[in-house]
Amino acid sequence: MKKENTAAGNLISESLQDETNKNIIKKEAQSLMRQLTLDEKISMIHGAELFRTAPVERLGIPALVMSDGPMGVRQEFEPDSWKCVGNHDDYVTYLPCNSALAATWNRELAKAAGGVLGAEARGRGKDVILGPGVNIKRSPLCGRNFEYFSEDPFLTKEMAVPYILGVQNWDVAACVKHFAANNQETQRLWVDVKIDEKALREIYLPVFYEAVTKGNCYTVMAAYNKIYGEHCCQSDFLLNQILRKEWGYDGAVISDWGGVHDSKRAAQSELDIEMSVTSNFDEYFMAEPLKKLVEEGTVSEDVIDEKVTRILMLMKRLHMLDGERKSGTYNAPSHRQTALDAARESVVLLKNTKGKLPLSPKKTKEILIIGENADLQHAPGGGSAEIKALYEITPLMGIQMLLGGNAEVSYVRGYCQDPKAENADTNWQETSLENGGGTSSGAGCQDEALAYHRKQLREEAVRKAKEFSSVIFVGGLNHEQDCEGNDRADMKLPYEQDTLIEQLLEANPETIIVLTGGSPVEMSRWIDRADSLVWGWYAGMEGGRALAEVLFGSVNPSGKLPESFYKMHTDCSAHAWGNFAQKETADYAEGVFVGYRYLDTFHIEPQFCFGHGLSYTSFTYQNAVLRKENGRAYAECRITNTGTMAGKETVQVYLAKPGLGQTDCGDSADGEAVWQEGAERMEEPVQQLKGFEKVFLMPQESRCVRVEIEDYREGMEVRIGSSSRDIRVCVCQEV
Ligand code: BGC
Repeated sequence: MKKENTAAGNLISESLQDETNKNIIKKEAQSLMRQLTLDEKISMIHGAELFRTAPVERLGIPALVMSDGPMGVRQEFEPDSWKCVGNHDDYVTYLPCNSALAATWNRELAKAAGGVLGAEARGRGKDVILGPGVNIKRSPLCGRNFEYFSEDPFLTKEMAVPYILGVQNWDVAACVKHFAANNQETQRLWVDVKIDEKALREIYLPVFYEAVTKGNCYTVMAAYNKIYGEHCCQSDFLLNQILRKEWGYDGAVISDWGGVHDSKRAAQSELDIEMSVTSNFDEYFMAEPLKKLVEEGTVSEDVIDEKVTRILMLMKRLHMLDGERKSGTYNAPSHRQTALDAARESVVLLKNTKGKLPLSPKKTKEILIIGENADLQHAPGGGSAEIKALYEITPLMGIQMLLGGNAEVSYVRGYCQDPKAENADTNWQETSLENGGGTSSGAGCQDEALAYHRKQLREEAVRKAKEFSSVIFVGGLNHEQDCEGNDRADMKLPYEQDTLIEQLLEANPETIIVLTGGSPVEMSRWIDRADSLVWGWYAGMEGGRALAEVLFGSVNPSGKLPESFYKMHTDCSAHAWGNFAQKETADYAEGVFVGYRYLDTFHIEPQFCFGHGLSYTSFTYQNAVLRKENGRAYAECRITNTGTMAGKETVQVYLAKPGLGQTDCGDSADGEAVWQEGAERMEEPVQQLKGFEKVFLMPQESRCVRVEIEDYREGMEVRIGSSSRDIRVCVCQEV
């Protein structure tokens, strides 16, 4: 991963300027560092509260104040306990989760969302916002997938970099997390990732590389898990060899909360700040215990000096020391507009076989909405990504707001979650380090009373569905499944929703199915009978409004899946070939064949493929050409909106090695067998996303779209299409 191989390609004069600035900042930081005593220096490299380090008032060095991200700035906690302060001044803008942002395939929206987060973090007096989460979605079961962008490294970095730039524009540091290969929650503190270096460098590391080079991300959070036998927070390989030496990173590296396990190794691994979840701050590994090691000569004070220098450089970059800092704000109307814009473009129309969508708002005089997710607010859940939202428009509210008083909107719940989960204690973080830090859970056992209650809800919903001509079901997942510290055991819809959907489609085949959540679910029991299916995410405070606008056609859907929607989790390579959520070792035996790279190479049918998403209009692709200019390659193509509605299309460019076609690995549907036969011959996936552009076209409008292609090599086939499996044109030769 050499710098010149990336699209970074900054002007040489700019990088020289950067280098000069870096040196100036470093010199100034060093001279301040030299005035500090050992005690003061040690106080700066570990948490003195749960979300801040200690200030050094004598020299005017402030505390470094941090807060979670990434969907908004988290509420205030007591300094030394996970009790919420409970004031009313920490309600914030609730942004769509990163999966939703990725589904927009819109870099500008990513930048705008980052900008909102930065402004609000600053507005709330924070210095570091703990996001974005950029881990690759290796398995659909990972409980934190909603916090991450995609299964694809290219899409992830294309969204993460502008997001980071947006945050940092506000004199707030983004903290790209979790470095690295933190792809499961089960045993997240102890699991050892066994991965070949090719896969690590091609799939899991590129986004971090781009974040710290192109995105200039000021801080990095080292992950909980181990890699090659060592915890990431104290990994010489990851932090020293790769991050510092290879990539030349001089930002601050912060541990995940409780991710450090050894004073000496952490000190020597170039980790700069240790944070944790307990209040024994002086006993942290990088507090008194490290001071002792320095005093007895086991660890050199130079090591501490380097950490403090980098922290002071960070403070300088944020203008924390010169008083020239931007002030930020929160809950600005423009922030809510950004949340709405992103939510609108995140909705994915998965299926609309008979064109039932959009519904007509004028003709809708009565409508039945079914499903708990229609009326559930998701902001307060999910783990450290929880948000105290200023408000959250649910789908039910959004539909009611859109239809107004001339339509009667009826609602029945249809299913319900486990009441125990609804009332769960939200102060989970203080116990989050117990038992290896994470679990896997299935649908859980349910008692008879609950089963009976669900049956009653279902029967009521099915009965009513027969009475209405317009019925929308809104179900899916919630933060009981999509949650930090927890992985799902399978992709099944919880709370007997499959049965409910089957019965609803039988009672009223017109029923529109809407699912919201952060990860795909199994649909096999009913998908063939559902004509219209819409996917929403945790789409922020305006999510319900955006969804309603899509359902009723005032917004033309333009979201595309940023991940494969498998038929079932065993179709995913992490489960079919590698292993996932093992207690001690996670074996990434699938190598680079992650997500569609596996499905496409080994001929496994997804339910919905990577990049898929329909529109209410249609687009044609013509006149594709490949051009090279100044050492860069571009795919050009004429895109025409052939329908009657204005809409946005994401033109996707995949690179394929000629010869690695569909027939290369046989045609078996049995992934494992094909894999074993093909794996020895296959070093590269048949195709990989290497460029995209999103365009807006009025009805009948036609435009030539130019997409820069990353990593183009002579002789490669350039596939241009509307999804990974809807390739419209291919070019091999330059014009
Ligand atoms: C999470 C981080 C988070 C931190 C602080 C940890 O449990 O893994 O993503 O930023 O807590 O809340």
